[in-house]
Amino acid sequence: MEFDDLIGDVKDDLAKVEQQILSHLDTDIPLLNDVAKHILNSGGKRLRPAVLILSARLFPGAGDQVHQAACSLEFLHTATLLHDDVVDGSDMRRQRETARVVWGNAASVLVGDYLLALAFRSLTLLENLVVLDTISHATSLMAKGEILQLLRRFDSASPEEYMAIIIHKTASLFAAAAKIGACFGGALPAQQEALYRYGHQLGIAFQIVDDALDYMAEGDKVGKPLGADLKEKKVTLPLSRLLAVADEDDTRRLLATLHKDHIEDDDVGPVVSLMGKYDVLSYTLDEARRFANEAKAQLTGLPDLPERQTMARLADFVVERDF
Ligand code: IPE
Ligand code: IPE
Ligand code: MG
Ligand code: MG
Repeated sequence: MEFDDLIGDVKDDLAKVEQQILSHLDTDIPLLNDVAKHILNSGGKRLRPAVLILSARLFPGAGDQVHQAACSLEFLHTATLLHDDVVDGSDMRRQRETARVVWGNAASVLVGDYLLALAFRSLTLLENLVVLDTISHATSLMAKGEILQLLRRFDSASPEEYMAIIIHKTASLFAAAAKIGACFGGALPAQQEALYRYGHQLGIAFQIVDDALDYMAEGDKVGKPLGADLKEKKVTLPLSRLLAVADEDDTRRLLATLHKDHIEDDDVGPVVSLMGKYDVLSYTLDEARRFANEAKAQLTGLPDLPERQTMARLADFVVERDF
């Protein structure tokens, strides 16, 4: 199923979120507007806003605050991308040069800070302490995730550490999105927690697939270069699996690459071939599928509405996507 069809149910809501986003991009500082527009108008999937709104629509109580909350979440996500591209030294995102390439690291960090602050201000105005607590907690977890990732070394990388990183840096925001939607919808605490768990499992699956796509597809749809994680020596699930299953000769070749001062574009192809040889990407996607199924399982006790079906299909999409 195409992504646009999938989120068709909440198309009108997402259009309102876009309006909200645009309404904040006209400040008195041209550089701020330029950087923010560059990244915000470049075709992000708006998955976190979609999760928030679907979750809210499962319950009768959601009003117009959901669009503002969804907009805040997208700002927060965008802030982390601006910062992440500085930390990762990334040159391409969403088929474009990253803001740090066009305007430099300093502008990227500062506009990221601005969007982060804007997200919090906007959520504060909604006067819901559970929501504020949920998002503050997620934000601190995300920062911790990026710090944990910074400390990870390819020669001592454990699977537990990988899980901790992706839970912190990615799953926490999906979990918060689902719970916040439920809060605005007027869900009972147990329902809010079920949706938190849905977002958590969905977010884990999502990041595992992001890590697989890094070795799967060049440029066009993904919008990020092939092998970027390898070049950064970032040990994600595909690479750690390969290190675990490769025979002695292949392991030696792989370690020789990882020990280079600079991993080049030309080093990526051979590693991708090894991943093919050992079926590492199917393994990785099977792992993602496990978490996506866990996400779906969290939905069982929730109101049996079309939105619930959509949330289940979203979990499948996260695994099957090619962008
Ligand atoms: C990218 O997230 C960062 C990760 C958590 C992997 P998305 O893939 O949702 O980014 P956009 O917003 O759709 O570009
Ligand atoms: C996700 O990790 C980053 C955040 C949660 C901010 P990645 O570093 O894999 O994300 P991409 O691949 O740059 O989008
Ligand atoms: Mg990155
Ligand atoms: Mg990535």
